[in-house]
Amino acid sequence: MAQLWGGRFTKQTDDLTRIINDSIGFDKRLWEEDISGSIVHASMLGKQGIISEEAAGRIKAGLEGILDDIAGGRLEISEDYEDIHSFVEAELIRRIGDDGKKLHTGRSRNDQVALDMRLFIKKETSQTQDLLLQLEGTVLDIMEKGTDVFMPGFTHLQKAQPVTLAHHFGAYFEMFKRDVQRLSDCRERLNYCPLGSGALAGTTYPLDRDYVARELGFAAPTANSMDSVSDRDYVIEYLSALSLIMMHLSRLSEEVIIWNSNEYRFVEIDDAYSTGSSIMPQKKNPDVAELIRGKTGRVYGDLLSLLTTMKGIPLAYDKDMQEDKEAAFDAIDTANICIRLMDAMLGTIKFNADVMAASAMNGFTNATDAADYLVTKGVPFRDAHAVIGSLVLYCIEQNKGILDLTMEELRRFSEFFDEDLYDAVSLESCVERRITKGAPGRAAMEEEIRISREWLAEHIEKHAAE
Ligand code: ARG
Repeated sequence: MAQLWGGRFTKQTDDLTRIINDSIGFDKRLWEEDISGSIVHASMLGKQGIISEEAAGRIKAGLEGILDDIAGGRLEISEDYEDIHSFVEAELIRRIGDDGKKLHTGRSRNDQVALDMRLFIKKETSQTQDLLLQLEGTVLDIMEKGTDVFMPGFTHLQKAQPVTLAHHFGAYFEMFKRDVQRLSDCRERLNYCPLGSGALAGTTYPLDRDYVARELGFAAPTANSMDSVSDRDYVIEYLSALSLIMMHLSRLSEEVIIWNSNEYRFVEIDDAYSTGSSIMPQKKNPDVAELIRGKTGRVYGDLLSLLTTMKGIPLAYDKDMQEDKEAAFDAIDTANICIRLMDAMLGTIKFNADVMAASAMNGFTNATDAADYLVTKGVPFRDAHAVIGSLVLYCIEQNKGILDLTMEELRRFSEFFDEDLYDAVSLESCVERRITKGAPGRAAMEEEIRISREWLAEHIEKHAAE
């Protein structure tokens, strides 16, 4: 199929050159952005008298027809063309004749593709936020039901202090909240329109860049035409945001995998989100969680690949930059399905509250509280720490918990132990007495949940209005 630039050439492009050069196989995904940008560009050309209003009108109508036909499944994007830009232009000329040849006045594919990518990434950041907000709703439901589901909190994957399910998931709520905010930051920074930058040095036509920017929903036109055609920071920023999302999803997946193990049995993953073994009939494996963890590496790879692609490119546009698309598409598709699956898996997962509470009861998760108890009786914390350390050693030898010890046994370690110790280091009081802001005690947690609910409602509303 004819290329847009045949005039200067006397020989055919080599087949291998076409294979490495043609991008339509993947950039056809930008058809909607490409056509929408062209419609506004044509209107602007007409409005500025660069082409006649009539020609602009016919171009617009032709492009709208193409848009509708692709959307309605009546026009298939042919992969015989070099890229989506060539396909749309050829189809326009096929439909409306010579006026179609005026569309590319004052424009280069360099600013055109920069526009397409900005529009696309802008739309996608919003879609990812949508999915994250849904996931946050599910996380918050777990928090609401989990304020008195006790579980061990870990450091070094060793039992540390008791927390609640609500508190544990509250941590993920915060992570995903920052992820949502990061996407807004990214969208705000990319919200400038590169069209009108030409190949690199603007054009001699009296383009109205403000009009184009406004019509396409951008805050303003970009400032420097060389930067405009060679900047892919916003793709990299979005992929960094996706990488952080994946990192959070991966940590949570890792926990689900541990909790689902036979040794822990804290959770039961729904059948719909697990798979079996072809040889071991008893197996129900947490494959979805493992795949989310695994796909994290893939999204990081996409980010790294684009960073590496960009690092040596002299100004302005170079064809290396065509590599932005597959990396971006892959990262977006991968992250989005992972967010959706995490949401679905958490929406159906069963928490074994009894097993979790029993686990929180042993492993000396109340040792800090026992030391704090002695502090309330006037023992300096460092001494109290040493006393409880020896007490724990004794318990390990006796295969007992602190609560199993008799007063007589306790007093061998410190004369300050009294009957009220049992209540002070019970699971309930270890959790409930932690009421500083951000702690797992019910009062603090209920406040955290209330604030989180408000944040979520506000953001769902804000998002719907955008
Ligand atoms: N397919 C190209 C890309 O994605 C479009 C821009 C082509 N520009 C050029 N001068 N060949 O980057």
